[in-house]
Amino acid sequence: MKILVTGGLGFIASHTVVALLEKNYEVVIIDNLSNTSLDVLEGITRITGKNPDFYQIDIRNKSDLSQFFNERPDIKGIIHFAAFKAVGESVEKPLDYYENNVAALVYLLKESCKINQPKFIFSSSCTVYDQAKTLPITENAPVQKANSPYGNTKQIGEEIILDYINSGADLQAISLRYFNPIGAHPTALIGELPIGVPQNLVPFVTQTAAGKREVLSVFGNDYPTEDGTCIRDYIHVMDLAEIHVIALEKLLDQNHAKSYDVFNVGTGKGNSVLDVIKTFEKVNNLKLNYKIANRRPGDVTTAYADTDKVEKELGWKAKRSMADALKDAWQWEKKQQ
Ligand code: UD1
Repeated sequence: MKILVTGGLGFIASHTVVALLEKNYEVVIIDNLSNTSLDVLEGITRITGKNPDFYQIDIRNKSDLSQFFNERPDIKGIIHFAAFKAVGESVEKPLDYYENNVAALVYLLKESCKINQPKFIFSSSCTVYDQAKTLPITENAPVQKANSPYGNTKQIGEEIILDYINSGADLQAISLRYFNPIGAHPTALIGELPIGVPQNLVPFVTQTAAGKREVLSVFGNDYPTEDGTCIRDYIHVMDLAEIHVIALEKLLDQNHAKSYDVFNVGTGKGNSVLDVIKTFEKVNNLKLNYKIANRRPGDVTTAYADTDKVEKELGWKAKRSMADALKDAWQWEKKQQ
């Protein structure tokens, strides 16, 4: 069975491709290589011994996308990762974000009607909840006004898919709202490849440990949490990869009647920034140079998932610990020297 993975050479996507290939799906990757490289394709092949089909296409290019779907009507499911993801950059370049994350989603959905009964998995984010009033965060927590264009593209993306399905489209879809993906494949053959200065915590931690960055700034220690630093739900990227396969299988199941659904994807456990630093130091047996800095605008204090729905309805639970993820992230970083 052939599955299209857009943005398939990105961080979460490449691990998902591995998980799909390991379950014997045939994978077709589209990527424009804007934020990754062909080395990732090689890494996927080295891990799995398989060669997914690869198309260097920018999904904003309607005619290339249309030609692709004309050539590949054999695709049964689409996992849509291709998107920009840097919050700060989205404030500076909102139209680029709306074009890539929203307009291109529309093009993709339009093309998906060339497939018989398409199944669609959408990469969403816990950012749609902003600071939830109740913890852990359930899927019923209200979506709140986004505080960045990036966050807004995820909210709008979910709405577009739902509106399209409600119009009677022959599409079934699941939005997965990721909490904080970290780590790398345990072989260290694929991982996160931030371009420039990393914005996310764990790549900054590993680059500081590697000496590429002088010091990690902890953004605020005056939050109303136990140690004063923000709390997040850090999930191993391979756990996250596996839920994509499970969600897709749910949609491919003939008996599955629901057209649209949303799931939180996290571990259910909250860890502070200082917990991440201490665990990283302990499992990798090293010392990290860090300092306390000002709060980062837009950060929420605490976010962790209520995992009941995904456990009950999809039978999935994160298996790997934060310590595993921080070990794997460090092994990956060491190979980037
Ligand atoms: C961020 C985005 C979120 C997006 C996700 C994608 C913001 C406000 N949120 O989530 O919308 O979906 O990335 O990966 O940017 N931290 C430091 N020092 C650093 C970097 C981070 O202390 O150098 C802290 C942050 O304040 C936060 C935690 O580490 O408390 C995690 O930060 P990060 O990895 O950037 O993820 P989020 O902010 O949760």
